Amino acid sequence: MGRDVIIACDFPSRDDCMKFLDKFEEEKPFVKIGMELFYGAGPDIVREIKERGHKIFLDLKLHDIPNTVMKAMSVLSNLGVDMCNLHAAGTVPMMEAAIKGLTREDGSRPILLAVTQLTSTSQEVMTRDLLINDNIADVVCHYAKNAKVAGLDGVVCSPLEAGLVKEACGKEFFTVTPGVRFADGDIGDQVRVTTPEKAKEIGSDYIVVGRPITAAADPVAAYRRCVAEFVG
Ligand code: C5P
Repeated sequence: MGRDVIIACDFPSRDDCMKFLDKFEEEKPFVKIGMELFYGAGPDIVREIKERGHKIFLDLKLHDIPNTVMKAMSVLSNLGVDMCNLHAAGTVPMMEAAIKGLTREDGSRPILLAVTQLTSTSQEVMTRDLLINDNIADVVCHYAKNAKVAGLDGVVCSPLEAGLVKEACGKEFFTVTPGVRFADGDIGDQVRVTTPEKAKEIGSDYIVVGRPITAAADPVAAYRRCVAEFVG
């Protein structure tokens, strides 16, 4: 899979999500389903969106003992998702177990990404609450390297960390970056943002874009603009 724009479908219900996807008559965008929609609508939402021909990033950020994560990943893999994720803080044995659970009988599996440190975690909070005294950029790169050792395909990170991750893990290691805004757009509650063009320059492989597309007056036009700036 090449560079692509993933739309964060952060809708409260199946109907809201379908109404949004109905607007796309020509394209089948890659969509991200998060906890709100998945827990609200259940696994059928994945089947339904898959049947409509979209690729799916299921963003559930698993973190548990290796055996539990292995079994849960096996269920998600059989749902047919194309990309899913977990917390690198679960450690290398957990990530290795996840890969095992995700791998289907024919040897195929969804792309697996690790969340390093959430972008909502500051240096101060990480030190105070987690007793991690290292520099946050070093922690992000260390977690990314652990993910690579465990056989994962990449990480979800801030676009501002994507360059460092590529340096630490190689350019083949995917970086998937949220926090994207158009140069003339509203940044909302995102603090550190980047434009699609800048994300391309930094080396992101996928950008995750929510409100700049879902809340636009013309979501299809906003999606096309994102693709033109990031891929085109
Ligand atoms: O609407 P917006 O473009 O801000 O949506 C970004 C999406 O990426 C949301 O689904 C959000 O939960 C997710 N995300 C994020 N920052 C992270 C991790 C995930 O914005 N560090």
